[in-house]
Amino acid sequence: MGGMLDTAWLLQELEPVVTRNLERHLAMAKEWMPHEYVPWSVGRDYADLGGADWDPNESRLSPIARTALEVNLLTEDNLPSYHREIERAFGRDRAWGAWVHRWTAEEGRHAYCIRDYLLVTRGVDPVELERARMQVMTTGFDADEKPILHVLAYVSFQELATRISHRNTGRFADDPVCERLLSRVATDENLHMVFYRNLVSAALEVAPGPTMRAIADEMAGFEMPGAMIPGFTRKAAQIAQAGIYDLRIHHDEIVQPLLRHWDVFDIGGLDAEGELARDELAATVAALAAQATRFEEQRARTRARVAARQA
Ligand SMILES: [Fe+2]
Ligand SMILES: [Fe+2]
Repeated sequence: MGGMLDTAWLLQELEPVVTRNLERHLAMAKEWMPHEYVPWSVGRDYADLGGADWDPNESRLSPIARTALEVNLLTEDNLPSYHREIERAFGRDRAWGAWVHRWTAEEGRHAYCIRDYLLVTRGVDPVELERARMQVMTTGFDADEKPILHVLAYVSFQELATRISHRNTGRFADDPVCERLLSRVATDENLHMVFYRNLVSAALEVAPGPTMRAIADEMAGFEMPGAMIPGFTRKAAQIAQAGIYDLRIHHDEIVQPLLRHWDVFDIGGLDAEGELARDELAATVAALAAQATRFEEQRARTRARVAARQA
């Protein structure tokens, strides 16, 4: 089998796996009510209804917690683009189509319950938030005709990264209501990750070489879907400095568990191209591990400098 695989063949070959995993997902996913996670009683009107504009002093969130929540929310906001991309890759027929719609319905509540929480608690500047949302959605998200195996590898990494990012943001926010909300959202993301991870496992059986290529490419070029958020690079750096999401976490809690689960370094049946992809993958993982260590050392030095200045 060459490098280019027929998409129709793959969709057909993987469809029974989609059916099984959709059933598994529906059995595992517990119904939950977003409105039960929002502290409505602390809310009050904004200026146009006779209340007051947002005042930064009202936010009980630290500036970094605010940044992390904004980035997570704006990332969730771009759902119409993500829906378009997975519909393009998976189609809208039978089990694939059923998954596309179910997944979209679950993702839909993430943005609105996080927004409800932030607006009711006056956690962030609502004007800045709305302007950023307009900008992000106007830009949209484009996967550039990514082939299906690459999409499956990407969303496996991305759903797990999103799960960890929500969970750690909730812990960092230092508000039990926020933590409860974000850990509930993270539970959704975990089930999404499991669904995609299982599809990649099945793809490794029917097309080991091309799937290894897809994993290697997506691991090497991984970027969060929120990369178009205004000021993303600076915000991601702050989030990393705070230890909410950094290279160490990316390596230890996203990349390694997935690669272990897929058993990428031990599976057999690879053709020459597949072996080449696996060698590339090993080199990328080693480079990431080294980068993570350098980052941690740098951060420790920065923190020590700041502590010395404050002493
Ligand atoms: Fe989500
Ligand atoms: Fe998700």
